[in-house]
Amino acid sequence: MADALTLAFSGFAAPARGVLLVFCDDKLKLGPQTGRRLGRAADRFRRAAAANNFTGKSGSALDIVAPAGLRVARLVVVGTGKAKELTSLDLVKLGGGAMGRIPGSAKAATLFAELPGGALTPEQAAEVALGMRLNAYRFDRYKTKRKEDEEPKTAKTVTIAVADPAAARRAFALRQAVADGVDIARDLVNEPANVLYPEEFARRTAALKKLGVGVEVLDVKAMAKLKMNALLGVGQGSRRDSRMVVMRWNGGKRGTEPVAFVGKGVCFDTGGISIKPAAGMEDMKGDMAGAACVVGLMHALAARKAKVNAVGAIGLVENMPDGNAQRPGDIVTSMSGQTIEIINTDAEGRLVLADVLWYVAREFKPKFMVDLATLTGAIIVALGHEHAGLFANDDKLADALAKAGQATGEKVWRMPLAPEYDKLIDSKFADVKNTGGRHAGSITAAQFLQRFVRKGVPWAHLDIAGTGMGPPATDINKSWGSGYGVRLLDRLVADGYEG
Ligand code: BES
Ligand code: MN
Ligand code: ZN
Repeated sequence: MADALTLAFSGFAAPARGVLLVFCDDKLKLGPQTGRRLGRAADRFRRAAAANNFTGKSGSALDIVAPAGLRVARLVVVGTGKAKELTSLDLVKLGGGAMGRIPGSAKAATLFAELPGGALTPEQAAEVALGMRLNAYRFDRYKTKRKEDEEPKTAKTVTIAVADPAAARRAFALRQAVADGVDIARDLVNEPANVLYPEEFARRTAALKKLGVGVEVLDVKAMAKLKMNALLGVGQGSRRDSRMVVMRWNGGKRGTEPVAFVGKGVCFDTGGISIKPAAGMEDMKGDMAGAACVVGLMHALAARKAKVNAVGAIGLVENMPDGNAQRPGDIVTSMSGQTIEIINTDAEGRLVLADVLWYVAREFKPKFMVDLATLTGAIIVALGHEHAGLFANDDKLADALAKAGQATGEKVWRMPLAPEYDKLIDSKFADVKNTGGRHAGSITAAQFLQRFVRKGVPWAHLDIAGTGMGPPATDINKSWGSGYGVRLLDRLVADGYEG
């Protein structure tokens, strides 16, 4: 877990122990400070590089054990490729890659935050540190044993050497707030559904209060009073009661309307009476990744004292088959007053969001709303694990999200909304039905949501079924629950986007 890593900043000095990490470019060039501090070990590095065909390309590293002339146990030279072309995101990834080269058993490591052109700026060093944090996360709270050939993992301190440690520390504090938010989201997604059911999920959001976030939990009775029958219908087959949590961070000007984030929080999705096949069903413990992201985001905004008024709202339910479960053919009246014919009880996320979206628009009149949901398997067919599906009724909001996606690497790909698709969810018996047939499954799901977005509210929907959980491991994410969306939406806010 994240607390196993302590990050510190210092000036440049040759460390006396542990692992020393330095950067070199694709010409094997070291930074000026680095070259000086390595002394004789710099020659050793060049010979080892030649012997090992190490060329310093991005993603590569050269590991030198017991380097002559240095007191450290290991010298790891991390290749940066062409060092002049590195973006902020490249630096985050570089930090992640460097962290990944530190042996699990090492207690101390030092990173010289310097490129051939000279020391990194405080902002750049902080990006590297962020990458190290993102890489270091592990979810191992249920591992009680270690395999024989596995090295023991120890808590470690990584010291990042920079020109101006105080400035780097300040720059990192903001990213640390975001990294903590990502880890919170990852923990929630990884946690199994016997532990993390709606009530427990709601309880965990209370931790945000310490940061000055207002947290309101609505129970079944309160939601029944609000006529949230679409959400409640999904949860009615579960022994675990449904909840809605509304989180408020008021860091902006008093009285200005908030921006709003809405998350699907299906703590477990069996499919209900339209039950899913057994293979892979265990993954449906992650069907609350949207809600997890909203909680992580609210943490990030509050912890870095973002100058924004923001609302986070999550619908928490468990979708189970049961004698009391909702049936295909049932018709429910949503909070908006629109009636919904349930065709497939496995299309439950949109039912939860229908009421939460309506509630948020009515209650807060937000400048814009972004919802996140592991909504459809079809989005994985379309986009795999690389992009979230982006649907929006507002081009400016869509463009701002695309830009934030490029900057953070949490990429989005815009998908269409159109009346022709909307027609596919007209119901024979009610105002709308909850599935639109075999084709364009992610789009008809988004069309469904749009029917519950009040007129005039700019809105975007992110289908994160492929990105929120189970994406392939990268240098900045080794976790099944990825925490996708926290950095994306934190950036949207940090960019000052308010519609
Ligand atoms: N939670 C699932 C979508 C999902 C699938 C997320 C795989 C992550 C990985 C959602 O509730 C669902 O079951 N969607 C159905 C909709 C269908 C019944 C119209 C789907 O995608 O098959
Ligand atoms: Mn489902
Ligand atoms: Zn689901």
